[in-house]
Amino acid sequence: MSKLEETSKKLSAASCKSYQNPYEYLDWPEQLDREQWFFSEELISIYGSPEYESLSESQKKQLSFFEAVNFFSLNIHGEKPLVEGLARRLYSRELKDYADYLHHFLDEENKHMIYFGGFCNRYAGKIYRDKKLQIPRDYEAGEEDFLFFAKVMIFEEIVDVYNLRMAADERLENTSRKINRIHHLDEARHLVFGRQITEHLYEKYSKEWCSETIERLREYLGNYLVATWKEYYNPDVYKDAGLNSPYELMERAWKSQDRIALRQQVSASLIKYLRERNLIGEEIQL
Ligand SMILES: [Fe+2]
Ligand SMILES: [Fe+2]
Repeated sequence: MSKLEETSKKLSAASCKSYQNPYEYLDWPEQLDREQWFFSEELISIYGSPEYESLSESQKKQLSFFEAVNFFSLNIHGEKPLVEGLARRLYSRELKDYADYLHHFLDEENKHMIYFGGFCNRYAGKIYRDKKLQIPRDYEAGEEDFLFFAKVMIFEEIVDVYNLRMAADERLENTSRKINRIHHLDEARHLVFGRQITEHLYEKYSKEWCSETIERLREYLGNYLVATWKEYYNPDVYKDAGLNSPYELMERAWKSQDRIALRQQVSASLIKYLRERNLIGEEIQL
């Protein structure tokens, strides 16, 4: 049995053990007390900026609510294509040995959207728009599967650092904190699978790919990493929180040294993994 088969067997057993009914996990209070933190203050996208410092405590908490709605929305936008892609790969010839685990993966992502969507729709009355663009193109054999799992891994590794920090943050409002906690518990398994399957597919197929394909793929993954981070800086959030010039604010926050340092710190282990396997270039500017 290959290492990946063994891992997916173990992960399936762990998923069975922590199987959750999504309609029982949360109480969904009628209303939320908006004078609480919904997102860890230090993770707020404009934290540390003069605009942020000028806000009252109550305004900062209002902003933290919309930052949470954005974080939950971007999770939905990552999980929708993930569920679609997992469903398409169920029982495919290449991945049939991991079909049992793909069922759990798919099931858990569907539940995550019930939590994230439940919060956004109930308390904000909306989900923020998806701004990522997908351009269809042709692939070499195995390249599309590889990219699918590599992108899932990049997306999930960043989210999980935020989940973990917020699950441990005692200042957080209970519903928001519990969503972060349950998401982290499932994601811990997805991340193990994500790293192993990305490596497995690369080793299996990349020998057959031409050098242009490998170069294109490295560039693509680097751009994907930056685009994933950009979703954490949403001008619609600033507008909803009553802040002026939301686009300029987004641009300044994105370029601030403090936020660059946060992005580097949060993605450090992911970047190390990608660099060690030569999957992104040295020139990535976060
Ligand atoms: Fe998820
Ligand atoms: Fe996941």
